[in-house]
Amino acid sequence: MVVVAILAAGRGTRMKSNLPKVLHTLGGRSLVARVLDSVEPLSPSRRLVIVGYQAEEVKSAIQTPNIEFVEQTVQLGTGHAIQQLLPHLEGYKGDLLVLNGDVPLLRPETMKNLLQTHQENQNAVTILTAHLPDPKGYGRVFCNGENVVQQIVEDKDCTAAQKQNCRINAGIYCFRWQDLEKVLPHLEANNAQKEYYLTDAVTQVSPVMAVDVEDFQEILGINDRLQLASAYEILQQRIREKWMAAGVTIIDPSSVTIDETVELQSDVIIEPQTHLRGNTVIQTGCRIGPGSLIENSQIGENVKVLFSVITDSIVQATVRIGPYAHLRGHAQVGEGCRVGNFVELKNTTLGSKTNVAHLSYLGDATTGTKVNIGAGTITGNYDGVNKHPTKIGDRTATGSNTVLIAPVTLGNDVYIAAGSTITEDVPDDCLAVARERQIVKPGWVSKKRESRE
Ligand code: UD1
Ligand code: CA
Repeated sequence: MVVVAILAAGRGTRMKSNLPKVLHTLGGRSLVARVLDSVEPLSPSRRLVIVGYQAEEVKSAIQTPNIEFVEQTVQLGTGHAIQQLLPHLEGYKGDLLVLNGDVPLLRPETMKNLLQTHQENQNAVTILTAHLPDPKGYGRVFCNGENVVQQIVEDKDCTAAQKQNCRINAGIYCFRWQDLEKVLPHLEANNAQKEYYLTDAVTQVSPVMAVDVEDFQEILGINDRLQLASAYEILQQRIREKWMAAGVTIIDPSSVTIDETVELQSDVIIEPQTHLRGNTVIQTGCRIGPGSLIENSQIGENVKVLFSVITDSIVQATVRIGPYAHLRGHAQVGEGCRVGNFVELKNTTLGSKTNVAHLSYLGDATTGTKVNIGAGTITGNYDGVNKHPTKIGDRTATGSNTVLIAPVTLGNDVYIAAGSTITEDVPDDCLAVARERQIVKPGWVSKKRESRE
């Protein structure tokens, strides 16, 4: 049985932010939510989050169900933080997994391995360690023989010689709670920071074993904005490598960002400067980008998207989008459509094989199949108070610079003359012309010139 405790009471001074550190986001998810995610596969029996600085904000931001919050009203160190658990874990006989709230890159496998090593060796504590090229700022871990921990010394308490040790404490531990419970009340703050160190409790029980993390990037803590940006880069690299291994071509990977929630099929090509976010699914054969943003959208097979923005929309197979199109508000584009240059679709459904090729705005509109929307066709869908629908039948064509004043319905096989402002419904098989007749006055210009002279 395992209980998880996450240390999230600190302010995170170096972020220089009004937002508590653990609520800063990495790839759209808060640091503390990511830490919670990394332990979820262990199915903890309880999840305790220790809060202090801006406790109310932290509590309301954590959406994960079944969290218990424990308040540490003054922050006197990591040992002091864990002391706050004493009344909550009275009589508990299992293991306690402790993690800092600022290590968002942990892999669940690492946590599983830590717990397994702990339980197989019947350790009092098992701590996660790493060998860092630059161990500055971290507590150093000194082991005897293989992995039996002798001492943990905080950076600020290290002698010059001790600072040379590159094996560091990741701040992630598995404790046999019954042992920790006994030593916790006796911690002292005899150290450079005058804090109660959890690391002091570690060396007061035995046996204590250290387990190295395979990839030290996993345990990097976020203390400032620079580290937040580096963590994002590491996260992105992991995601891109995963999709490339699954058969996705990413041209110029460093210019592309992909959320973990995105799904890509094989033989998708992602061109440079493309960003895929939220619950987006892109099916096989698509070419996305360059210069595109797709968020919370479903893209069917063999779609091409060029320099365009698509949010909350569904695009069926073989559609061509862009350059410079914007689909939003649950736009739905049928198979084989073309949505071209400077076209905006909002809450609009296009039947299959429909073209909206140039300079149009369709809002709250529905078209049939094989419709041709002429260049510069605009729906007047908003009267300043309410939005109104426009319906367009199969095979209908609007001329250039048509304005459709909604609510309005065009039947099947309708033609709208260019430059028309349509205010009334047009039945099937009709031509509608709604514009002034042209007047041509012969000789008008020369007459005007003469009269001036
Ligand atoms: C801690 C470890 C250090 C380790 C490092 C790894 C101790 C004494 N040192 O140092 O050995 O190498 O983590 O990142 O534990 N917190 C509270 N309440 C407090 C103090 C801190 O909840 O009173 C929380 C912070 O919000 C943070 C975590 O504990 O999430 C770690 O605190 P921090 O001050 O960053 O510890 P480090 O100095 O980094
Ligand atoms: Ca830290």
